[in-house]
Amino acid sequence: MKTSVVIVGGGPAGLLLSQRLHQQGVENIVCESQTREYVLERIRAGVLEWGSVEVLRDSGVGERMDREGHVHDGSDIVWAGQHRLKMNTRKFTDRPMMAYGQTNITEDLYAARDAMGGQIIHQAQDVALHDLTGDRPFVTFTRAGAQERIDCDFIAGCDGFHGVSRRSIPDGERSEYEKVYPFGWLGILSETPPLPDIIYANTERGFALCSQRNAMLSRYYVQCTLDTDINDWPDDRFWRELKARFPKDLADAIVTGPSIEKSIAPLRSFVVEPMAYGRLFLAGDAAHIVPPTGAKGLNLAISDVFYLSRALCAHYRQGNDAYLESYSDMALRRVWGAARFSWWLTSLLHRFPDQGAFDLRAQQQELAYLSASESYMKAVCEQYAGLPFEV
Ligand code: APR
Ligand code: PHB
Repeated sequence: MKTSVVIVGGGPAGLLLSQRLHQQGVENIVCESQTREYVLERIRAGVLEWGSVEVLRDSGVGERMDREGHVHDGSDIVWAGQHRLKMNTRKFTDRPMMAYGQTNITEDLYAARDAMGGQIIHQAQDVALHDLTGDRPFVTFTRAGAQERIDCDFIAGCDGFHGVSRRSIPDGERSEYEKVYPFGWLGILSETPPLPDIIYANTERGFALCSQRNAMLSRYYVQCTLDTDINDWPDDRFWRELKARFPKDLADAIVTGPSIEKSIAPLRSFVVEPMAYGRLFLAGDAAHIVPPTGAKGLNLAISDVFYLSRALCAHYRQGNDAYLESYSDMALRRVWGAARFSWWLTSLLHRFPDQGAFDLRAQQQELAYLSASESYMKAVCEQYAGLPFEV
């Protein structure tokens, strides 16, 4: 086979890139190791920056999002069992946010790719990237026992944190920056009406979060230790613990019900530099992981794809490689902005096992200052709402 761009990985980053390239007439093939059903079943984040909303609309996948997504003014933080403050992105940045699940976005992207006749290969095994620094790179894989090969001009590595693309950059040519946090999030999904607002809690029992997917689908999390066994957490224990981490009025307002999904996610920050090597360009979780606090993971995948699709389209349509050459630096500036913010919000809202009395008071003081200072809050809202894309 032959195409212009091989996209390794058919998660949100790979599908969105495929869609945007196809819209501009740039031929591409997506090569995904799992089945479509498997990709669609993954439950992940659900908060979109307005810049992401605009990119999705521009990519022709905004219709259901605009119908079903919940537009809101930002999220709240409760702390010390009583104080409540709002990261009001509409007030401080003129930009609202939207709650709309990644699962739905992936469904919308698959529907759009099907409608345009996009080529997606599923269950590609042993995917390998070749000749990345030459003029004609290629990708090999096996499908149904047979070896296949796709020749191309460029490879987009959109295959997530555990994919093969990042590891195809030789060891000496890449630097990795990592921070592993000493706790995880135990999360559930339940078919109950969510609270009207997304609310983060800093409490002495640990962090908690009330979030939402739609009018009848709620997402909740509690901070847990890394050795937590999910079997020790039947629904009633989860609900009790969640409510214990919120002030009484909010706890009383939480509508409980059976969980339809329950999982534990460890928290990690990770960035690889550079995000390009020869004719390989990384986007999304293949290049970076942020802890979920602040919901930046999906938004970063979308901004990487915005930059990369612009760069590839400029190459094919105008013969201009300036954006391809600056892709890694430009994407990394935004990635580090979000990586720093996610680390900061994680540090502000969680209880750390080694946190001493001084650290606790400093954390409380930071929340008090955030409540008191409009200029500090504005800087936080600017980042929560999402930094602008570079021109
Ligand atoms: N070959 C082909 N495909 C692969 C390979 C491989 N060797 N390894 C992994 N994949 C596929 C996975 O099966 C998955 O479908 O690549 C896809 C990567 O998708 P995601 O992990 O969802 O990553 P990305 O598209 O970058 O989306 C980032 O996901 O984790 C969240 O918070 C994150 O919301 C953000 C989003
Ligand atoms: C979620 O809804 O899954 C979510 C919301 C806000 C976050 C993180 C996750 O900061």
